[in-house]
Amino acid sequence: MITVSNKKFTVFAGDVLVILVSAKANGSMSPTDPAFKPYLAAASKAGDFSGKDGEILMVYPGKDFPCKRLVFIGLGSDKKDRDELRKVGGVIGSKAIELKAASLAAIWYGVDLKTKELGECLTEGILLGQYRFAKYKKKKDDEKDVFLKKLTLFPQQNASECRKGVRLAEVAAQAGKIARDMANEPGNNWTAEEFAVFARSLSKNFPLKCTIHSHRDLKRLKMGGILAVNQGSAAGPKMVILEYNCGKKKADTLLLVGKGLTFDSGGISLKPSAGMEEMKYDMCGGAAVMAAMAAVGEEKPAGVNVVGIVPTTDNMPGPAAVKPGDVITAYSGKTVEVINTDAEGRLILMDALSYGIKKYKPSAVVDLATLTGAVIVGLGHHYTGLLSNNDTLAQKIIDAGKRSGEPAWRLPLGEEYTEQLKSEVADLKNIGGKPAGTITAGAFLQEFVGETPWAHLDIAGTAWGFTEKSYIPKGPSGIAARTLIDLIRNWT
Ligand code: BES
Ligand code: ZN
Ligand code: ZN
Repeated sequence: MITVSNKKFTVFAGDVLVILVSAKANGSMSPTDPAFKPYLAAASKAGDFSGKDGEILMVYPGKDFPCKRLVFIGLGSDKKDRDELRKVGGVIGSKAIELKAASLAAIWYGVDLKTKELGECLTEGILLGQYRFAKYKKKKDDEKDVFLKKLTLFPQQNASECRKGVRLAEVAAQAGKIARDMANEPGNNWTAEEFAVFARSLSKNFPLKCTIHSHRDLKRLKMGGILAVNQGSAAGPKMVILEYNCGKKKADTLLLVGKGLTFDSGGISLKPSAGMEEMKYDMCGGAAVMAAMAAVGEEKPAGVNVVGIVPTTDNMPGPAAVKPGDVITAYSGKTVEVINTDAEGRLILMDALSYGIKKYKPSAVVDLATLTGAVIVGLGHHYTGLLSNNDTLAQKIIDAGKRSGEPAWRLPLGEEYTEQLKSEVADLKNIGGKPAGTITAGAFLQEFVGETPWAHLDIAGTAWGFTEKSYIPKGPSGIAARTLIDLIRNWT
């Protein structure tokens, strides 16, 4: 439970009171409240704490305060951007776990960021920083109940603005956690069926319409891409669709498409075994779409319709598996020569993109996929690769990513790259050779979106192992769920 209180923080009688402290140029520290002075003066004299960025000081306040602990956190300068505040939140979130704190309150002095954004980013960081995935571990007694049950912010002014920010944070952080949870599930427990079950449950709880296309439906619809990728698998593929309608006649429709490859062995073009276990994360695009739809259901945006589509299967070798050299026919009617069965993401996305565009006539489409290892070569684990046929949409996504602490970097498209996809026997081949692997993958998808404004996010480098930050765990980051939410919130 999160409360934004109008009262003075001195009423707080819980486990941890966090005080954000900025260091002033003259060497003094920001808290103006005299109650803190003795602690800060003593710590400063001992050389233990001066309010520098990253410093932490914990004291036991005795009778001065009704709470158990005071934790001072140094901010350095009082000029903080959104992600810096989120990172401070992440530090608080982990510290609270370390202390097994059930209740925590935070106050701040003179931080130069609007109260709404401050409340939002601090809360988002705390909630995301409290994320752990221990479902498959037997918990020891002392590992139980390590999470916060009660969080209180004492903004000291503008409480109602702060409350608005906190509400935004709760929804976004929850979405990030949903995406991480899905990604952390192993391939044997998160299959196409689990995507379908999750989507159905969302449609029970929120005003979202759910449609699941089964194996039989996909055959009837002639979705040759997703069917081909599924051929080697023991389990059926699905196309999972969630629709949100805002009720306004002239509203834009935003289509989100996420790669839901629940395990990518490479198929007949089998991947090397070292690190193959990471390919359970090949559904992170789908996870981001599902998580964003959960947030849409919760927030019910007034001015935009949103459709989320997740084509989902695993990619396995087997007697019936698609083979290098096979020619398949996409939903759009285009034929594709499968040169490498490991370039499967584009094959499931091509059908989802052309189907979604035909059926929902969206104003814009965003697809998200752990599509190429090449994006890691180009951008490392710090930027998501962005490819788009539309400058306005590309800029909107870059801005949303910046606000969300999930930066994206745009790469070019162009005929030269599309040329690399020419096949001798079919309309296209599914790989464009070694050079510019991320771009040719984007160029392949571009063949299926026509004139619709479209952006493709290659999250192979950021879906896990993303830039180390206090609120981002080592495993799956939940990347792009919060960017999508921000994009939708700022759509009109
Ligand atoms: N899922 C992989 C991409 C990937 C690789 C994601 C490493 C995260 C880390 C994708 O399906 C794939 O295998 N792509 C191939 C494409 C190649 C055959 C043109 C790749 O990147 O090697
Ligand atoms: Zn692959
Ligand atoms: Zn893949």
